[in-house]
Amino acid sequence: MTAGDRNDVHPAWLPPEAFRALGARRTLVTGDGPLVETVYREVAQACASYGGGVRRSGSDDGGDPVDLVLALTSAGPLPAAAEEVAAGRRQRAGTLGAEGFLLARHCDVTVVLAEQPAGLLYGLFQVVRLGESAFGAGHPPRSHRPATRLRMLDHWDNVDVHPVMGQVERGYAGGSIFWRDGVRRDLSRVRDYGRLLAAVGVNAVSVNNVNVHATEARLLTDRLDDVAAIADVLRPYGIRVHLSVTFAAPVLLGGLPTADPLDERVRTWWAGTTRRVYERIPDFGGYVVKADSEGQPGPFSYGRSHADGANLLADALAPFSGVVHWRAFVYNHRQDWRDRTTDRARAAFDHFAPLDGRFRDNVILQVKHGPMDFQPREPVSPVIAAMPATRLAVEFQVTQEYTGQQRHVCYLGPWWSEVLRFGPWGDGGPTVAAVATGARDGGSPGGGLVAVSNVGDDPYWTGHPLAQANLYAFGRLAWDPGLDPVAVLDEWIDLTFPPPAAASATATAGSGPSETGGAGDHDLVRRTLHEIMDYSWRSYERYTAPLGVGFMVRPGTHYGPDVDGYEYTPWGTYHFADRDGVGVDRTRATGTGFTGQYPPPWSEVYESLDRCPDELLLFFHHVPYGHVLRSGTTVIQHIYDTHFAGVTEVAAIRRRWERLAALLDPALHARVAERLDEQLRCAEEWRDQVNTYFFRKSGVPDVHGRRIH
Ligand code: GCU
Repeated sequence: MTAGDRNDVHPAWLPPEAFRALGARRTLVTGDGPLVETVYREVAQACASYGGGVRRSGSDDGGDPVDLVLALTSAGPLPAAAEEVAAGRRQRAGTLGAEGFLLARHCDVTVVLAEQPAGLLYGLFQVVRLGESAFGAGHPPRSHRPATRLRMLDHWDNVDVHPVMGQVERGYAGGSIFWRDGVRRDLSRVRDYGRLLAAVGVNAVSVNNVNVHATEARLLTDRLDDVAAIADVLRPYGIRVHLSVTFAAPVLLGGLPTADPLDERVRTWWAGTTRRVYERIPDFGGYVVKADSEGQPGPFSYGRSHADGANLLADALAPFSGVVHWRAFVYNHRQDWRDRTTDRARAAFDHFAPLDGRFRDNVILQVKHGPMDFQPREPVSPVIAAMPATRLAVEFQVTQEYTGQQRHVCYLGPWWSEVLRFGPWGDGGPTVAAVATGARDGGSPGGGLVAVSNVGDDPYWTGHPLAQANLYAFGRLAWDPGLDPVAVLDEWIDLTFPPPAAASATATAGSGPSETGGAGDHDLVRRTLHEIMDYSWRSYERYTAPLGVGFMVRPGTHYGPDVDGYEYTPWGTYHFADRDGVGVDRTRATGTGFTGQYPPPWSEVYESLDRCPDELLLFFHHVPYGHVLRSGTTVIQHIYDTHFAGVTEVAAIRRRWERLAALLDPALHARVAERLDEQLRCAEEWRDQVNTYFFRKSGVPDVHGRRIH
C-alpha cells in the first residue's frame, strides 16, 4: 500500500461493516446544520451498503414506521416515539448539554435525543458502537454526557520537514496529514480523521508542533488561510482547531522590539492578531504555548512570570471565548549532571504552584501526567494536587515516544486509566480525572484531557496497526475516564475487526466460542488480541528501565536501550547507578525533597522506603542492590527476573499473532508481524543490556543462573 492512494487507507475503527446494524434499519433524522448533515450522510451511506433507508423530518413524517430516530429536541415537533421519550425526560431534572444525548428504546424504536447537534453526532456513533444490540430490547433510557468539555489532540506536526525531527516530531507514522509544502491540497485524510475522532468524542485538535519554528509561526498571521482550510474540514465533525504559537510572535511577526507581556504594544499586537484569527475562523479554539522550555522563548526573558505570559494571551482570546493551553512542562534542560540538588521532577511544581489563583479563567494549565516526561512508569505529577484555583488539563502522550514508538505493541489504556483513577489526596478522595474534568467539589472548572496524537499519513494511520487502539482509548477515556480500559479495547476490536455478517447478531463481549464458524473466528480474534494487548504495557515496563527509574533510552531518538545514555548529560534524567546501588533519592530526609511536593498520604508513602510502591521505588529512592522489595525479592533479582519475563511475554505475543494469520487481512497481518519481530529483537536487546549492566555494576549473580553477558 502507498500512502498517496486513498483507497488504500485503512478505515481504522470505522470500516463499512461497523455500520451494518444501522445500515439495515429505517432511520429518521431531524434537525439542521452541518453536524446534522454529517449524521444524515453517515446514515445514508450505511443504508446504501446494507439496504436500509433514511429520511429527514418534514419529508413524509406520517409515513412508514422507523427503527431509529435521531432527533434534535430543538428542531420542531418530534416524531411520536421520540416525543414520548422526551416527555418522560422532561419530568426529570438536568439537561443533556451541548454534547450529550439520551439513548432509549421505546415501542421497538431506538431513540437518540440531543439538545445540540454535537450530541446527535455522538449519539449516532454510540448506536454504531452498540451494533445490533442498539436495536434489541432492554435499553432503559440513559443519558450520556462527556465528563469534560475539552477533549483534545495535539499534533506535533511541522509544515516543513525538520532536519532532525522529520515532519512530525516524535511521529512514528509517516508525514503529517495536514501539511505538505503548506496545507495539503487534498484534505480527504483530514476529513477521515475528523470522522474517526468524532466517533470517539474528541472535539479539539491543535494542528502544529509545540516547538514553533519560523514557518509554523506564520500560521498565525499570513498563513492563516491554511489553518482555516483545516478548520473547514473538521467543523462538520464538531472539532475546533487550535494553534501552537510562539511567545516571541510580536517580535518575529510583528516587528516589535519586545515580546514583554506587560508592554502595551505587545498587548495591542496580540489583541489585533487574535481578532483577525477570529474574523477568519469564528469558531477557532485558541492557542497552545510551550514557553521557557527546551529553548522556546517565554516570559522569563523579560523578568515576568508565567501567569503574566499566559494572561496576555488569555486577554486577547477572551472576547471570542477562546482559551490558551499553557504548558507546565518547564524545566532546566541545561543542568549540570554533577549537581545532585537540582531535580527536574520538581520543576513544574516549583514554577507553577506559587502562581495558583493568578491565571485568568480562560487559561488552561496543561500538565504532563507525570513529573518527568511520558515514561512507561512515573508517579502522578504533584502539580495536579497543588493548584485548586487553576483550570488544569492533564496531558498524555498517545504517540509512543518512550513506549516503543509504534514498533512495539503497547496498549496504553490501562496506564492512562490508572493515572485518571489515582487519588492525589489518597484513596477514596478526588481523583486525577475529577481535577481535569472539574468534578471536584470546590475545585475550579477542569481544563480537560489532552494528548499528543500518534497519527500520520501512513496507510494504517499509526504505523503499527494495533497502535490505533491507543488513539481510540484516549478519546473514550477523555469522554468517560471511568471506563474500563479492557472494555474499551473490546469496543475497538469489535469495530475494527467486525464479526462476519452471520455471526454479528450472536457475538457479544466475553462470550465463549460460538456455534457458528464466523462467530468462533471472531471470538478467537478478540481473545487473541486481548491476550496480546491487555498486559502489553506491563510487559514493556518489564523489559525496559526498572522500578520507575525511567529513561535509559538512546539519547535523541529515545528508541532502544542505552543505560548510561543520559547519565552524564544536561537533561536532568539520571539513575545514579554505582557499584552499590541505583535510584534517585527524592526524599525530604536525604534527597531533593521532591516527596514534599505531594499532599499526605503520598508525601509520607513516597518518603518511606518501606511504604513506597515497588514500581516507583527507584523514582524516589536510591537503594542498595540487595534491598528487599515489598514483593519479597531483591532489587537486583527483580531486575533480572522482570527482564527475562518481559522477553518471554513478547515471544508469546509473537506466537499468538500467528493464530490470526488466516483470519485477518494479509497486509495488516504482515505489517504487525514485521513489527513484532522488531519488538522481540529490541526486547532482547533491552534485557541483555540492562541485565548485563547491572550484573557488571553489582557483581551479584542471578539466583537462577540464567545467562547474563
Ligand atoms: C519531550 C519530547 C520533545 C517534546 C517535549 C514536549 O521532551 O522528547 O520532542 O518537544 O517532550 O513535550 O514539549
